[in-house]
Amino acid sequence: MKIFLDTASLKEIREAAALGVVDGITTNPTLLSKESGEPEDILVQICETVNGPISAEVVATDAEGMMREGRHWAGVHRNIVVKCPCTTEGLKATKALSSEGIRINMTLVFSATQALLAAKAGASICSPFVGRIDDIASPGMEVVRDIVQIYRNYSFPCEVLAASLRHPMHVVEAAKLGAHIGTMPYSVFTALVKHPLTDIGLKKFLEDWEKAKKEMGAKAAR
Ligand code: E4P
Repeated sequence: MKIFLDTASLKEIREAAALGVVDGITTNPTLLSKESGEPEDILVQICETVNGPISAEVVATDAEGMMREGRHWAGVHRNIVVKCPCTTEGLKATKALSSEGIRINMTLVFSATQALLAAKAGASICSPFVGRIDDIASPGMEVVRDIVQIYRNYSFPCEVLAASLRHPMHVVEAAKLGAHIGTMPYSVFTALVKHPLTDIGLKKFLEDWEKAKKEMGAKAAR
């Protein structure tokens, strides 16, 4: 599964990218609004930091406006994937933009029916929001499971991006279900590597190593 970071923070992106396991970035208007600076400048810097798909979302709500913004974003940097919301207007814009070769990430997807339409409209990525579905007491991962199955049944060339992942188990579940991509906040990403037994084990190895070195030194001095 590809790992994307769900953030517009260049500090977080740079730190995570240094590990060499980040495949792309998703941003949205809320995430960009938390950063200082021009959204376009921030996106260009993100594109220059991570060489993978970088989602930039349209804010128009009509198809014409989305198409205008989508063409603009696609021209800003070759890494940009245009995020369109899963509305009737968003589907029209997705059909038109994808026909022009512009990659679309269909966002705000909450059901398998929406995902079916996203793939048929030509989206290259479909983003079901797992955490937000869980928030309304419905199993978000079930939606991911259904979408993965539907796309497999018909060999749709659309990747399932499990979004709104809130904790490491969401990441594990998404990977087990075969989601192509998981996007997560920096806090979830950093939690993926942590395990108390790794820390305990490493501490013991280093202590034993130091002990052995001291003993060898003492033997050599005799
Ligand atoms: C995905 O592309 C979205 O930006 C994101 O995952 C939304 O997550 P949230 O529900 O935690 O805001």
